[in-house]
Amino acid sequence: MNGKTVHIKSFGCQMNKLDTALFTTALQDAGFGLTDTVKQADVVLINTCSVRDHAEQRVLSHLGHLKHMKKTKPQLVVGVVGCMAQRLGQKLLEHETVDIVCGPTQIPQISRLIEQTFEQKKKTLAVTEQIRRKADNDQTQSLEKFESAFGIENKQLSSQAFVRVMRGCDKFCTYCVVPYVRGPEVSRPPEAIVEQIKKLADRGVVQVTLLGQSVNSYKYPAGEKTYCLADLLYMISDIRGIEWIRFVTNYPHQEFLDDILKAMVELPKVCEYLHMPAQSGSDKILKAMNRKYTAAEYMDMIERARVTVPEIAISGDFIVGFSDETEEDFEATIDLVESVRYKNCFIFKYSPRPGTGADKRLLDNIPQNIKTQRNTHLLTVQEKISEQLSKQFIGQTVKVLVEGLSKKPHLNASENNSHPQLIGRTAGDYIVVFNGPESLAGKFANIRITRSMPLTLFGQMA
Ligand code: 5AD
Ligand code: SF4
Repeated sequence: MNGKTVHIKSFGCQMNKLDTALFTTALQDAGFGLTDTVKQADVVLINTCSVRDHAEQRVLSHLGHLKHMKKTKPQLVVGVVGCMAQRLGQKLLEHETVDIVCGPTQIPQISRLIEQTFEQKKKTLAVTEQIRRKADNDQTQSLEKFESAFGIENKQLSSQAFVRVMRGCDKFCTYCVVPYVRGPEVSRPPEAIVEQIKKLADRGVVQVTLLGQSVNSYKYPAGEKTYCLADLLYMISDIRGIEWIRFVTNYPHQEFLDDILKAMVELPKVCEYLHMPAQSGSDKILKAMNRKYTAAEYMDMIERARVTVPEIAISGDFIVGFSDETEEDFEATIDLVESVRYKNCFIFKYSPRPGTGADKRLLDNIPQNIKTQRNTHLLTVQEKISEQLSKQFIGQTVKVLVEGLSKKPHLNASENNSHPQLIGRTAGDYIVVFNGPESLAGKFANIRITRSMPLTLFGQMA
């Protein structure tokens, strides 16, 4: 211990959660203690998300709280980490509460940055100057070293781990800030990924989720061969101890799709689940978003997935109220949602992001109330589909990986017995609630489904 305690708060996607998990372990290794309360902390680190304005506003309001805190505790060090740090850089450092600004690429330096701030008693900025320039070798190696040293199991559920297979994004969807805060696509070497997962398996991890902003674009040239995501799936499938392999998020492109679907069929460990955001069902909007497919091409990919892997569960993301989205465009989105029959969808109201193509060239001209209406409408359409799909599970027995105690008690009192309510997930990513011994956490269980809600299945241990 170095006598200092850190309080960590994390916003955003799974990539961010993974970053948080990595630097949390790195800080512990460097001798820092952890605390759940800001009051007891010497350092507060906030890992931030920039994908929508709302996410940034939450961080700013959090910084507002910390400002009061600092009045009574002036020695408190506050660090902003991640996408917002990279996006705002110096501007964020000028915030009176903020002492450290650390971009996603600089995360391996985090404990040094904290020490430095304590020693020198001055603000520290660590971001990438030219974020779209390919990282130099030193930087890549430092990230790689950090990833393999601290790429360990999820603290909450030690049987599951996230493993990054690539960083950054080169797709430049016009609404999206990611390419400007996470830099260019870089795939990690396959042997490093396999080594890391072997270590995780040795520690008892049974499920790995491979992460990439567009994970199906994974590409690693090595001599004659270029490794793609399907190659990784085959290699990881050979690792003893690993039972389930997932991967998110998929960009709807043809490249590698058939190979990935084939791997899903041939490899029992690969979960029959595909998260493949369409974003819109209107070709006009897709074009304005710089998405490189039409609705018909997207539908064709979905149909191919269903033909090759009949049991596949598909989920997606949509943005409503993008620039110039007419009622007709929105109806095309509803049509697509109804044709695909997603297991579930994440639906977002368009939020212009400074510096992106859409923000520079297109208008944010759909009023908030229309965005909200379309959001609610699409959610209702999706909910009906989710309800029909979940109903089909009633009477079936499904295998789940048990995650632990259910956080909020669900209304299945009639099935209550002496055991607490647990929550698990099927290979197709359905959430299953049932009563069972807490010791099942991290293990597989077979559950007979008795009841369903649109996003949740209820059952009893079979
Ligand atoms: N506004 C609203 N939603 C967005 N997303 C990404 N950028 C924006 C934005 N500017 C959504 C997309 C993406 C998901 C992670 O967030 O649907 O798939
Ligand atoms: Fe953003 Fe598009 Fe890249 Fe996804 S694929 S991270 S939406 S630019």
